[in-house]
Amino acid sequence: MEKTTYSLIPMQIQFSTKILPETDFASAQHIKLALSSLASQTSDCLILGYTKNELGKKTLGSPLVELDALLNGAIARAKAAGDLDGKEASICLLRADDAWQKKGVKVKRVLLVGLGDLGVKDNLALTSFAKIAKVAFKALSGGAMHSALWFVPSFARHADADMLLKQVRLAAQLAGEQTYRFGVRQPAMKFKVKDLADPFHQLVFATVKSSSKAVQLAVQQGAALVEGMNLAKDLGNLPPNVCTPSYLAKTAQGLVKQTKLKVELLTRKQMEALGMGSFLSVAQGSEAPPQFIIIRHSGGKASESPMVFVGKGITFDTGGISLKPGEAMDEMKYDMCGAASVMGTMLSCDLLGLKQNVIGVIPTCENMPSGRATRPGDIVKSMSGQTIEILNTDAEGRLILCDALTYVERFKPKAVIDIATLTGACVIALGAVHSGMFSDDAGLVDALTEAGHDSLDTVWRMPLDAAYQEQLKSNFADVANIGGRPAGSVTAACFLKRFTEKYKWAHLDIAGTAWKGGAAKGSTGRPVPLLVNFLLAQ
Ligand code: BES
Ligand code: MN
Ligand code: ZN
Repeated sequence: MEKTTYSLIPMQIQFSTKILPETDFASAQHIKLALSSLASQTSDCLILGYTKNELGKKTLGSPLVELDALLNGAIARAKAAGDLDGKEASICLLRADDAWQKKGVKVKRVLLVGLGDLGVKDNLALTSFAKIAKVAFKALSGGAMHSALWFVPSFARHADADMLLKQVRLAAQLAGEQTYRFGVRQPAMKFKVKDLADPFHQLVFATVKSSSKAVQLAVQQGAALVEGMNLAKDLGNLPPNVCTPSYLAKTAQGLVKQTKLKVELLTRKQMEALGMGSFLSVAQGSEAPPQFIIIRHSGGKASESPMVFVGKGITFDTGGISLKPGEAMDEMKYDMCGAASVMGTMLSCDLLGLKQNVIGVIPTCENMPSGRATRPGDIVKSMSGQTIEILNTDAEGRLILCDALTYVERFKPKAVIDIATLTGACVIALGAVHSGMFSDDAGLVDALTEAGHDSLDTVWRMPLDAAYQEQLKSNFADVANIGGRPAGSVTAACFLKRFTEKYKWAHLDIAGTAWKGGAAKGSTGRPVPLLVNFLLAQ
């Protein structure tokens, strides 16, 4: 299989902004003007949100009644037919006819999206907004439509600038998620990829002048986020015979050519000299050489301490000598999703032009059984000096992370967040809804929780008490690498905690959230939205 490097182009969806004249939505005349200027844009579909209230009981209310005049009664007919009821996240697609054209309407379709029972002064909750936007983008994607026009004020209602920013950023994120296809960016790959790009590839956010600044910023941020997510998804979805540790390293080096990011790779000699005995013990069972990747985004002052992300990069986890059962073992190609999310977040940092210093660190190797592999019972020495008794070679994530967590002390970090598909126990505890968050730092806990809400990429706080450390006692070394079945995700986090005493730290266990199994198998790009929103709020 040819191991081409990763290509960052083409963008799968393009976002832009269209600014309309300021509109007083209390004036029918203003509404008419705004709607006719909207409808005169060339686009495959104009998307408008409306409430039950605006739909009216017997006759249409404003602004649907003004729009209906432009659309030659199409809305009233749809309402009479029962196609339009205003329920939250209900959709109704109207198609243009000759009468529309005669009135100067150039959009080919109008997609009316119900916002539910919203009062005149009410705002949409972000979760409702997301539900509604998802349904709308699903209707747009995969068919004949190429472009769409999203009328921001019809969804934003009375949102303040901050809420508006979050809504539009989230809309871009969700449109990106809907239009993502694997393989579109791997044109040079030797195998034939199944997916073609989504025909829907252009989304214009139309808004009035007073909100244009916030919307433009949000669109820019959303676009940067989508690119980071797409990179993370692609890397996660690539097969493990292509996405090897060296492929990840090459991808990072490829980023240097297209961005201002700086990349450094440690050689095996350097890793040995640093004393990364724990990381190297995991790598030793594989033919594939391990890689240690450092990616820098220097958007802040040189003196400013960096935010550091550390991502688990096991490109395939067989379990090693403590071999995993065969069922669904293919999914262990996703064991590098922590690394992929760090890489994606670093790309987003660059595209955002983020004015902060951020460093991404990726220890990456395969976990394979072989004559050279670690045995259960082996004792290794970590870079921190602590010795580790490896009682189960399948608890390898913590073994590669602990050395990376010691390595990053040199950056004098503002904080360190590690991201890892670390434990099956976390999947049992939290499923695919929340990522597990472990931290003793109240500031990090609050910031991550809020960033999770803003991006729908949520976290749930888990304990990290000293009492759980008991389970990691070893008779022969400083610490054992497993703590038994009870509280498996907590003891894994407690193991990592022993290597993070020199800085503020949070650990994210993304084993349940980084990919979906079953028929819709694939990488989710999480937690790139969480991390990007976290950085944007700093
Ligand atoms: N990569 C796995 C964790 C995992 C398992 C993620 C299933 C997603 C789905 C990790 O390396 C692992 O194997 N952890 C073991 C730890 C155990 C041996 C203490 C686990 O969770 O079973
Ligand atoms: Mn494992
Ligand atoms: Zn693993």
